[in-house]
Amino acid sequence: MPKPRVFVTRHLPGNALDLLAEHTDVAVWRDELPPPAEELEREVARSDGVLMLLTDRIGGDILKKSPRLLVVSNMATGFDNIDLEAAGRHNVLVTRTPGVLSETTAEFTIALIFAAARRVVEGDRAVRAGEWKTWGPEILLGQDLSGATLGIIGMGEIGREVARGTRALGLRIVYFSRSRKPGLERRYRMEFVTLDQLFRESDVISLHAPLTTETRHIIDRKALSLMKSTSILVNTARGPLVDQGALYRALMDERIAGAALDVTDPEPIAPNDPLLSLPNVIVTPHIASASVATRSRMARLAVQNLLEALGGKLPKHAVNRDIARAWRERVRKSGVAIGSEKMERPA
Ligand code: DGY
Repeated sequence: MPKPRVFVTRHLPGNALDLLAEHTDVAVWRDELPPPAEELEREVARSDGVLMLLTDRIGGDILKKSPRLLVVSNMATGFDNIDLEAAGRHNVLVTRTPGVLSETTAEFTIALIFAAARRVVEGDRAVRAGEWKTWGPEILLGQDLSGATLGIIGMGEIGREVARGTRALGLRIVYFSRSRKPGLERRYRMEFVTLDQLFRESDVISLHAPLTTETRHIIDRKALSLMKSTSILVNTARGPLVDQGALYRALMDERIAGAALDVTDPEPIAPNDPLLSLPNVIVTPHIASASVATRSRMARLAVQNLLEALGGKLPKHAVNRDIARAWRERVRKSGVAIGSEKMERPA
């Protein structure tokens, strides 16, 4: 009985690949950089399943040429790199890895909030540049977080963890989200506010919304014009939530005090991007979930999702569950065989 063929777009941490190799015929792209589009297309077209990262894009063009493909397992909680509508049209199941990276991502977000408010990176740069001449009462003055207002946009798992982690610091927390979360409001003494109110009242604004057509450029010129001149913007979600040109102008005009971005648009940000010339901007290379344990958990969950799906079981973290019935029928007809004696690939 042939094993299903899967393509994995990068080497994965931990023992996730061993597990995959036990049950599938697995091909791994071992470069440090993502597979080029043509390579991805070629490999996906030959596969029953693909395990990929947020750097890989799958759209209608690839799906059209991949009649064999049953499942795309994204090793990320976000899935804006996949054309969900096209996946639905082709009855290809898409899965993601929520739940296992929220605390790690929130920890990094809080680190950026502190780093930006207390000018940690500027201080480090000054020391390395030999600019530390003396202790001075007015050198590198930052902002206290105790008593400040934190505005969280997006109250999913990561937003919630940021609220939990910052609660004890004496911050007032306001939030805006697609839906209200009364239980969390009570638990973390948070206030649900309108977006405009959040922009006006927050000292730190932290983004935790998924990237959708509604949230693209949620931080635009207008939003920035409403913010306090002392405010700090932190983004560990997705780069295109922020209109980076507008952010650069707002920082230049001292409309806001600083920004800390773990995600940019595009990624990687060009080394000559004007934002990188500003001392009050911190940019890190999309590493908010990058801890040893979390990346291994993400890899394992992505593998688990893939194996479950190839066994004809709808994974808990399937995104497009609406196609479940038609997708199951495709799996059945395909004859791929994981965990089921009955499923056999037709000759
Ligand atoms: C995700 O999972 O979407 C994160 O951006 C990865 O760090």
